[in-house]
Amino acid sequence: MCGIVGYIGREDIKEILLDGLRELEYRGYDSAGVAILEDEEIQSFKAIGKLKNLEEKTKNFSTNGFGLGIGHTRWATHGKPTELNAHPHLGEFSYVVHNGIIENYQELKKKLIQKGYNFLSQTDTEVIVHLFEENYKQENETFKAFEKTVEMLAGAYAILLITKADPNTIYFAKNGSPMIVGNDEKGDIYFGSSDAALIGKASEVIYLSDGDYGYTKEGEIKIFNDKTEKALQKKPLIGDKISAQKDGYRFFMEKEIYEQSEVLGDTIMGRVLDEKIKFDELDENFFEGINQIQFCACGTSYNSALACSYLFERQAKIKSFVEIASEFRYKEPLLSKDTLFVVISQSGETADTLEALKMAKKAGLKTLAICNVDNSSIVRISDYTLLTRAGIEKGVASTKAFATQVMVMWMLALYLAQIRNTMSAEELKAEISTIRHIPKTVIVEDSLHEKIKRLSKRYLHGHGFFFIGRDLFYPLALEGALKLKEISYLHAEGYPAGEMKHGPIALADSELFTIALMPKSVHYDKIKSNVEELSARDATILAISPLEFDLADDFIKTNYSDHPMSEFFEMMVITQLLALEISVRLGNDVDMPRNLAKSVTVE
Ligand code: AGP
Repeated sequence: MCGIVGYIGREDIKEILLDGLRELEYRGYDSAGVAILEDEEIQSFKAIGKLKNLEEKTKNFSTNGFGLGIGHTRWATHGKPTELNAHPHLGEFSYVVHNGIIENYQELKKKLIQKGYNFLSQTDTEVIVHLFEENYKQENETFKAFEKTVEMLAGAYAILLITKADPNTIYFAKNGSPMIVGNDEKGDIYFGSSDAALIGKASEVIYLSDGDYGYTKEGEIKIFNDKTEKALQKKPLIGDKISAQKDGYRFFMEKEIYEQSEVLGDTIMGRVLDEKIKFDELDENFFEGINQIQFCACGTSYNSALACSYLFERQAKIKSFVEIASEFRYKEPLLSKDTLFVVISQSGETADTLEALKMAKKAGLKTLAICNVDNSSIVRISDYTLLTRAGIEKGVASTKAFATQVMVMWMLALYLAQIRNTMSAEELKAEISTIRHIPKTVIVEDSLHEKIKRLSKRYLHGHGFFFIGRDLFYPLALEGALKLKEISYLHAEGYPAGEMKHGPIALADSELFTIALMPKSVHYDKIKSNVEELSARDATILAISPLEFDLADDFIKTNYSDHPMSEFFEMMVITQLLALEISVRLGNDVDMPRNLAKSVTVE
């Protein structure tokens, strides 16, 4: 997730762009940049880190006549957060900003290099500006060149492009990544990745659809789709900035739950091909001599690793074990060099995980980070990194970070299965097709959310919760219980369903709430008898399953799928929403629960 802005008009262009970027900084802050075209000259400024660094760099620059500009705040996906990789990217006479991922950038880049184009950055974005200039050479007409460029791009994008070849115009295109264009009464034009960047400036806006592209000049907006001009569907822009940042959701956590479909799409983009998994970030030789994997993490990241350890053993047939980082550090672990040490962290700054990583490095192990924040301490220290691409997560209770971690590790398990030849081509294809379907699986239906809102009122008291599941669904039960604890302050435990009879069942009575994860694809009969045992002791049961279960007090029906991961992701969303709605009813601060911090940088 990055943020982009654009402006055409007579106000101070830099101030308008910086104002917009300030509102979008929640989308990413690895680096920021602007390009401003005034009197046929383009000035560009970039700075790594937060926006204040760009503000400092541009403090002596201002405009005071007609002009236009584009700006960007970056959340790195391809290439490190350096100034060269920061947007806008320049060609010979044009500049571009982009949010999304150009999937075919490597083949385009190769062709452009053969034609003599020189690339300065490691980004996928830079191909757009060179491609546009190459097309302009052939077409000699800017709009045609832009249209042709857009046609040649595959992947997700929101693009703004300015060029000295047509100095009064901003070209734009949108596919899969958000973009809004608006105007004020004077005819000044504004672009932004979300309402927040336009509130207080534009009076009416158009929410661009996938496949839209076009151009804007002072007082003029032209939108095309599939080479046909579209009628402009303008809407008045109202609202306040904070709620715009939350995109109309009550809490960031709620927004982040709803965002999971989009970010999972980003996570798999360019990595899941028709018949194989590809990670540009990895070198296959890196895995030579590796016989086992040691995962190490804290909290939610630990739960995601535990879930995926089942996949690594089953799919890649590699011994996998998982350790809580704070335990690992002091157990004087025996480490052997045939072990790949994988740390998982949303923030990349968790002290316990970071220290565990340093220990593994010191012992000479190969290391890999699964992380959401590029250039974080954990990323800098690890030999290799796979970014989860979840975008900034503001809610202290992790949701989309968990979803994307699981997805990255599932893809990694398949990648290793390819290298180790532990799966047939047919099996791999089936996995790939399930992965592609997951972003749809996590879309939140209104009816589901409404049902959970209603159900939540029955789960506010009692003497505790047990989330139970088996197999992959045991770590999901741990994660469901962690979510509930964090934001409701109610006592909840995640437990392997088969283990209840070895002790905890003693707690069962009508005041004990059991959240039973009962997928059809994994040991349904086994978990069913575990839940029956609890029901016989009068525990209150909320069953989550595709199969009706008569003994449940409450029941949430899921879709039947024969792939455990589809059931896993669907149940994940249900447990997140349940925690959210219980917390809301209890009147708690959902996004900033008491006693917790987003990133735990102390022991
Ligand atoms: C998750 O909801 C938590 N807030 C917490 O458990 C978190 O996952 C843990 O502190 C690890 O953080 P990290 O992923 O940033 O390393």
